[in-house]
Amino acid sequence: MPASWTFAVARDDLSRTTLVEGATPTLADGEALLRVDRVGLTANNVTYAVLGDSMRYWQFFPPGPRGLGPQWGLPPLWGFAEVVESTVDGVTAGQRVYGYLPPAGHLVVRPDRVDDSGFRDASGHRADLPSPYNVYRATAGDPAYREDQEDLLVLFRPLFFTSFMLADQVVDNDFYGAHSLVLSSASSKTAYAAAFELHGRGPRLVGLTSPGNLAFTRSLGCYDDVLTYDDIDTLAAVPTAYLDLSGAPATRAALREHLGDRFVRDVAVGLTTQTPNADAAGEVFFAPVQMRKRRQDWGRDGLDQRFTDAWQRFTGVVSGWLDVRVDAGHDALRRAWSETLAGRTPPRVGQIVQL
Ligand SMILES: NC(=O)c1ccc[n+]([C@@H]2O[C@H](COP(=O)([O-])OP(=O)(O)OC[C@H]3O[C@@H](n4cnc5c(N)ncnc54)[C@H](OP(=O)(O)O)[C@@H]3O)[C@@H](O)[C@H]2O)c1
Repeated sequence: MPASWTFAVARDDLSRTTLVEGATPTLADGEALLRVDRVGLTANNVTYAVLGDSMRYWQFFPPGPRGLGPQWGLPPLWGFAEVVESTVDGVTAGQRVYGYLPPAGHLVVRPDRVDDSGFRDASGHRADLPSPYNVYRATAGDPAYREDQEDLLVLFRPLFFTSFMLADQVVDNDFYGAHSLVLSSASSKTAYAAAFELHGRGPRLVGLTSPGNLAFTRSLGCYDDVLTYDDIDTLAAVPTAYLDLSGAPATRAALREHLGDRFVRDVAVGLTTQTPNADAAGEVFFAPVQMRKRRQDWGRDGLDQRFTDAWQRFTGVVSGWLDVRVDAGHDALRRAWSETLAGRTPPRVGQIVQL
């Protein structure tokens, strides 16, 4: 029986997928072998694929060594993996780590800067890619880790970190002088976690969502108001900053037309509609940039502590907003990809796949 597998999507048509099987990779000196164990699927993973070329997300997990041609891409996932074999001191079989993982049975890493908190993958092809994606955190040395909250970490850790840094950047910039903050795809995890962080801090928070997700988004209570995309013309004409998670050109155009010179800031954060929005917004939020700033302001430990405090406040409420759905095996991963790509996953569902 083949011992490993890789799932990939066609780079020019994300709905076309393949699954190849092969031998478990063997290690060279300085390498460790991770078995991908438990991952999550949200719109964020689709965005990695949509921006696979422009933001180099395809480069994290190259298809070539897995016997796949360059027309295929491996959409990165977040989750837990287990070290099954290691040639590196301090990285030991049985260790459980959290990090950026391929949709595959295994990942070979080249651990560097190994300490109690985990390691970085120093593989050559990842050296020039944004460093936060190269970190593997050992569960044992992680202040945010709790075994009974693994699924929340799988689903939310990178998203909540983004939301936390986004909210921090907005506060750090005096809310851009806005009296109102409008977030699109308000039912998305990244948007509602940012709203959770910003609620009650100053400006009015308005969520925009699709009609089918209106009741869910209102029920969260972290927005002052929730409207559908068709109701933009009812927004108060006050200085407004837009945090765009949907990328939809029609929504941006309607906001610009309705608000005119009161549309004071336009920040591209995400693109759940799979339409790149960086050029249209004129400004892109990229969490590692604000993270670097705060590492300088607060130090690494200061940032970690603030994040951990915020994370604990968030986990206190988010389990009431979420139904975790756990499916098993690589076929389930394939199905979950198709559902997420098509936007068929209800916002209340947190899709986990146990591999
Ligand atoms: N800049 C950064 O550093 C950063 C970091 C993390 C995440 N993000 C981005 O934030 C966005 C949200 O990610 P998430 O993982 O939080 O999403 P999620 O929870 O999976 O969001 C699901 C929501 O997105 C909208 N949606 C999903 N699929 C769609 C489709 N095919 N067509 C139209 N709308 C669709 C719907 O919201 P509505 O009905 O409310 O529109 C849906 O309820 C992603 O684009 C992600 O990449 C950016």
